[in-house]
Amino acid sequence: MANATPAPPPDPVPYIPPMSSPAASPNGNVESLLKEDRVFAPSAAHAAALGGAFCASMDEYRARHARSIADPEGFWGEVAADFEWFTPWTRVLEWSAPDAKWFVGATTNICHNALDRHVLDGHGHEVGIIWEGEPKGANGTPEVKHLSYGELLDEVSRCANALKSLGVKKGDVVTLYMGMVPELAIAMLACARIGAAHSVIFGGFPAPSIVDRVLDASSRVIVTCDGAWRRGQVVPLKKNVDEAIALLAAQNHTVEHCIVLHRTKNEIAWTAGRDHAWHELVGAQSAECACEAMDSEDLLFLLYTSGSTGKPKGIRHTTGGYMVYTAYTAQQTFNLRAGAGHVYWCTADIGWVTGHSYIVYGIMPNRVPTVMYEGAPNWPADDRFWEMVARHRVTHFYTAPTAIRAFMKWGDEHPAKHDLSSLKVLGTVGEPINPEAWIWYHEKIGHAQCPIVDTFWQTETGGHVITPLACATPTVPGSCTLPFFGIDAAVVDENGHELPANTGGLLVIRKPWPSMLRGIHGDRQRFIDTYWSRVAGMYLAGDGARRDDRGYFWIMGRIDDVINVSGHRLGTMEVESALVSHEAVVEAAVVGMPHDIKGTGIAAFVSLGPGHAPSEALKASLREHVSGFLGPIAKPDMIRFTQALPKTRSGKIMRRLLRDVAAGRDSKQDTTTLEDFNVLAALRGNDE
Ligand code: WT7
Repeated sequence: MANATPAPPPDPVPYIPPMSSPAASPNGNVESLLKEDRVFAPSAAHAAALGGAFCASMDEYRARHARSIADPEGFWGEVAADFEWFTPWTRVLEWSAPDAKWFVGATTNICHNALDRHVLDGHGHEVGIIWEGEPKGANGTPEVKHLSYGELLDEVSRCANALKSLGVKKGDVVTLYMGMVPELAIAMLACARIGAAHSVIFGGFPAPSIVDRVLDASSRVIVTCDGAWRRGQVVPLKKNVDEAIALLAAQNHTVEHCIVLHRTKNEIAWTAGRDHAWHELVGAQSAECACEAMDSEDLLFLLYTSGSTGKPKGIRHTTGGYMVYTAYTAQQTFNLRAGAGHVYWCTADIGWVTGHSYIVYGIMPNRVPTVMYEGAPNWPADDRFWEMVARHRVTHFYTAPTAIRAFMKWGDEHPAKHDLSSLKVLGTVGEPINPEAWIWYHEKIGHAQCPIVDTFWQTETGGHVITPLACATPTVPGSCTLPFFGIDAAVVDENGHELPANTGGLLVIRKPWPSMLRGIHGDRQRFIDTYWSRVAGMYLAGDGARRDDRGYFWIMGRIDDVINVSGHRLGTMEVESALVSHEAVVEAAVVGMPHDIKGTGIAAFVSLGPGHAPSEALKASLREHVSGFLGPIAKPDMIRFTQALPKTRSGKIMRRLLRDVAAGRDSKQDTTTLEDFNVLAALRGNDE
């Protein structure tokens, strides 16, 4: 099917030296990532326990990676042949930087590959989603639902018909602002089924975040819930939507319909004609709804993420390449296999890309049940996750370093209480994992039996781009190891020249891959400026990195004004704009600071207008104010009041100085006011 383009010479994949055994792992603190050299090699026993390896050795990895780079069309054409397409492609790839088209001319539907296909193949009775609610009943057990592919197909079709009955058509953008209930996955698949793009907004965001995203996407239909359970409390989702709709109306944008799932049964306002109860509207529909034939490059979803400027970017992902890449990475990275008794649980919220790709779209086509949990990891007690691993016999567990650090703090007795023997593969994502947390995860959760895949990727990459493969890659705590198939990753200087081993530089990807972002919604220039300009012709990830002597990648953190708070991406400018919108604030500068659990905490330096004096009460009010714009995640961990911000002669805020100040002081010992930046600046020299 594919016309191979002339093959460039294969890139050498670095030599991997022989591995020591995991038994060699010492416990305790590790002073420096740079000194980390413990190596954990997967064994044949791992592969056997998983029902066989999809990639069984480094030799195999190297051969397949080399081929994927030399002949991407041949490679991806073969991978894509495992999916069902309505019409075939004429070419696998058309690339004119920065624009990629994958599986050109083909049509398919990702919902068909996630659901219909399994039902047609006779697997309709198998479980697709295992959902667990947060509250526990009087008898101490939570609500659990096992939804089969057949049931999911019916409910998705009903939801699709409901959307159609409200006038939603192919190409429209439907906003989903819900808790972690099965209906969120159902609504996503329903949108995909009829060719509407979805824009999922994380349920932890407040009304102003909804306003920005709905406006940017010109979305006229919102699906929400009355509320969401979080740590025993109700997050008032519908109330936030009502507030957002009123703010939108003031900007002449009409939200025509709002579908409301009743979950928490809190009291909500109701606008007749506009608001529709899920159980009435969806419940009344037929369970027959044909899949729309989607062009491979038709929009599947928008997902907003923070960047260097104040406005979040709507990252565009399309149908065919995203489907192939997310499902294939899920299979290869985690070694996920249908019919092998696997139960996969990713603890992320679907409001982030991790949930899109590795709770829903990448997992369901693999026909392995995906666990969805509604609530908090420490509700009602600190062992909730381990209780769930045991209850559902989870084999694959995927979480974030910030969560692992919290588990460590809560104490070893919580995982020790539960039977974790079902676990076979552990994963981490979101930020660099410190070796101490890695070793704890390996020993206390994996009982030294489970490979850990530290998956590096981004909203923009759609799926894993640098990651170990569970049964093939020897791992080193703190390193995300090697590029996935088809990924030509490198560490380069500003001119795009590859740097020698152990030298920090810019992380880039030099060739297109199927699930790469197709743009920023409505902002072509920003797409080009952000990703394709600093190093000509290469995708700039926005992270610093180095490779070690083995060729393994070590991510060193963002190179832009983006910080990673508990694995959630936040633009420092977003927090600054929220702060200056407070009546007391004249100017604000926000930087990241080290934080034990969050990885990066938020430090804000604030100067006040006349008539406003520094106080603890004002700090509290500023924190609430920021939370009202950006959600609780964005609350500053430390606020320092200052007469003026330190600036260079050209008026640039001296962020490095602020970062040093923030890093050097314990927020508990804070004096409320940081008096004299000028003295500090003079001591250090005006060097920024
Ligand atoms: C940024 C992307 C991909 C889903 C979660 C975050 C950081 C992500 C790792 C990792 C080191 C990581 C990077 C990246 N990051 N995974 N395994 N090791 N850093 O998605 O919100 O788009 O953030 O998260 O800084 O650029 P995102």
